Amino acid sequence: MAAGASIFGRLAELADFSAATVIVDVAGGNGELLSRILAASPHLHGVPLERPHVIHAARKLLSQAGVMDRCELITGDFTEGIPGGGDVYPLSRVLHDWDDERCAAILRQCAEAMPEHAELLIVERLPPEDDSPALALAWDVHMLCNVGGRERTAAHYGSC
Ligand SMILES: C[S@@+](CC[C@H](N)C(=O)[O-])C[C@H]1O[C@@H](n2cnc3c(N)ncnc32)[C@H](O)[C@@H]1O
Repeated sequence: MAAGASIFGRLAELADFSAATVIVDVAGGNGELLSRILAASPHLHGVPLERPHVIHAARKLLSQAGVMDRCELITGDFTEGIPGGGDVYPLSRVLHDWDDERCAAILRQCAEAMPEHAELLIVERLPPEDDSPALALAWDVHMLCNVGGRERTAAHYGSC
């Protein structure tokens, strides 16, 4: 996933975080997306949630990016609980790991944790709705073979 960080492009600069204070990055991996968001918006604080054996990678990268003093790292399991009190909840390249039923369970946990005003920021590769070639299709097969997940179209996300 670290090698595929180019998916983030200029997201940190283009998304509007001006009304936010706390970003809860659900299953934030090595912290790449969160470090970009915090670097681009110095008023923000970050709360990455990750598994215990992965959080050290986030600590290292966030420290290298010089934003660790604005972070509170949380170890946990998103099927059991997600930190509350955030304003934006990125869910980056998480749903594509799971089948629809598990995705619904993860999204339910997000909904339980998120304050009324908070926003969910789903970051995924979108396969085209037609037959045109796209990198997302290779990822679709990759996710299916390795973790039983899938890439979903914009229409699929919109219908949920
Ligand atoms: C495909 S990676 C995406 C990482 C990051 N969000 C990104 O876009 O680079 C999925 C992440 O989910 C984390 N994860 C898997 N199961 C989890 C769970 N039950 N609770 C919290 N994190 C979990 C993994 O450790 C992994 O870092």
